[in-house]
Amino acid sequence: MSTPIPKPPGVPLLGNIRDIDPSNTWWSLKGLAEKYGEIFQIKVLGKTIVFVAGAALAEEICDQKRFQKYVGGPIEEIRYSVHDALFTAYEGEESWGIAHRIIAPTLSPQATASHFAEIRDCAYELVQKWSTLGGKNVIQPLEDLNRLNLEATALTMFGNKLDCINAPVSHPMLAGMEDSTSEAMKRPTRPKLLTWLLYGSKLKNATRVMRNFAAEMVQHRLDHPTDRQDLLAAIMNAKDPETGRALTESQVIDEIVSMPIGSSTAPCAITALIYFLLQNPGVVRTARAELDAVIGEGPFSYEHLAQLPYIQGVVLETLRLSFAAPGFNIEPIPKKGDTSPVLLAGGKYQVAHNQAMIIVLAGVNRDPTVFDEPLAFRPERMVGESFEKLPAGVKKWFGNGKRACIGKHWAWDFLNIVTAILIQELDFEVVDPDYEYKQDGWFNVRPVGFEVRVRARTDKNPLPN
Ligand code: HEM
Repeated sequence: MSTPIPKPPGVPLLGNIRDIDPSNTWWSLKGLAEKYGEIFQIKVLGKTIVFVAGAALAEEICDQKRFQKYVGGPIEEIRYSVHDALFTAYEGEESWGIAHRIIAPTLSPQATASHFAEIRDCAYELVQKWSTLGGKNVIQPLEDLNRLNLEATALTMFGNKLDCINAPVSHPMLAGMEDSTSEAMKRPTRPKLLTWLLYGSKLKNATRVMRNFAAEMVQHRLDHPTDRQDLLAAIMNAKDPETGRALTESQVIDEIVSMPIGSSTAPCAITALIYFLLQNPGVVRTARAELDAVIGEGPFSYEHLAQLPYIQGVVLETLRLSFAAPGFNIEPIPKKGDTSPVLLAGGKYQVAHNQAMIIVLAGVNRDPTVFDEPLAFRPERMVGESFEKLPAGVKKWFGNGKRACIGKHWAWDFLNIVTAILIQELDFEVVDPDYEYKQDGWFNVRPVGFEVRVRARTDKNPLPN
C-alpha cells in the first residue's frame, strides 16, 4: 500500500488556489515544503502538481532513465519570447541538440577561463562605483549586481561592452527580463480571459525589448567584424557537427535572449550572499585571511581561483541556502501504451504515469535528514571531503543531467570572482537590524527590499589601477 501524498485542504472548485500567492509562488512553495516535508501536491484550475522537497526523492526523480525535463507552465509560456531555445525546447525537439552542440563548447571550463579578466574587470568597475558613493552609500545591492551581470554576460558572450554599470538609468533589457518572466510565472494560474483582457500586451512588449536587445548584439558584431571565438560567433556562424545544420536568424535571437535570463540567477545568489555574510562576520574573517594570503595585493589572476577552497565553500553554501534558481520540472518518460502509476521511494508513493513534478530546492537544499542545522550558513561543510560525501540530490542547484544549466561553468567562475572581489575590497554594514529576510522572484529568487551600507574596506590598500 502506498502512502497518500499530502496536500493542503483547499476549497471546493478553486482547489488550492489560496495556498499559492501568485505574486510570490516560490515563497508559498517554500512554506508548503516546510510544512509537508519531502513530497506534497496541490490542485490549481483542475490540474494536480506534485512537489518534491526532500533530497532522496529529488535524487530519485533525477534518474534520466526514468524521468525527463517537463516543459510546461511558466517554461511553456516563455516560449512566446524564445520559442524552441535551449531552456524552453521540449524533450525530443531537434533544435535542442543542434543548439546544445553549437553552444556548449563556448561555455566549457576552458572557454570560460578565457573570459576571466573580462569578468574580473567588470566586478572591479562595480567595486569602484560602490566604494566612491560617499554619504549616499545605502544601496539595494541587487540593482547594481543585475547591471554587473548583464555587463559581464554581454561582454564575454557577445563581445559587446554595454557600459551599463555606471549608466544613469537601468538597461531596458533588465526590465524586459523582469516583465517577461513575471508574466510567464503568473499566466498558468490566471484565468485565460483575464490575461487576454488585461495583460495581453505585457509579455508582447517585454519580448520586443529583449529581441531588440538581441538584434543589437548581432548588428554590433556585423558592424565590428572580429575573429573573437565567443558564443555569439558560434551561434551566428557555426554548424552542428552532427547534422551540419546552423541556427536560423530567429534562433540566434532566441539564444541571445535566453543567456541573460539564465545568467540573471547569479546576481540573485550574490545578493543573498551579502545577507549571509552580514549574519556571519566570522565567515568574512576566514575568507579574507584566505584571499589576503593567496591574492594579497594582486593582481587577481585565473590561477588564484583554484587556490581558494574556502571561497568555493562560501559560493556553494550560498547556492544551497539562496536556492537562487528555486526549482525545476520533471515528468516520467512516457512509455507507449503504459498508463500504470509511477512508483516513488520503492512504492511508498504513487503518481500518475504523466504526472508533472516540480523539485523545490528550498526543501531539498535544507533537508534535515542530510544537514545538521540546515539553516546555518557554514561554508566548511561544502569544502573537500565533507562536500564530496553529500548525496547527489542536494547538489542540484544547476539542474540535472542533459538539461542541466549550460552556463554552469560561467556561473561558477562569475560567482567565485565576484565573491572574492566583494569580500576582499568592500565592507558591508547592516542598515536595518530588524530586516526580515524574505525572497521573491520569478525564474529566480532574491532577497526582497534588502539594503546595505557599503564602503571600501578600511583595513586594506586601495584598488590596483
Ligand atoms: C547561479 C547561476 C545559475 C544557476 C543557479 C542556474 C540554474 C539552472 C538550472 C537549475 C537549470 C535547469 C532548468 C530546468 O531544468 O528547467 C538551468 C538551465 C539553464 N541555464 Fe542556468 N543557472 C545559472 C546561470 C546560468 C548562466 C550564467 C547561463 C548563461 C550562460 C544560464 C543558462 C541556462 C540555460 C540556457 C539553461 C537551459 C539548458 C538546457 O535545457 O539545455 N544559466 N540553469
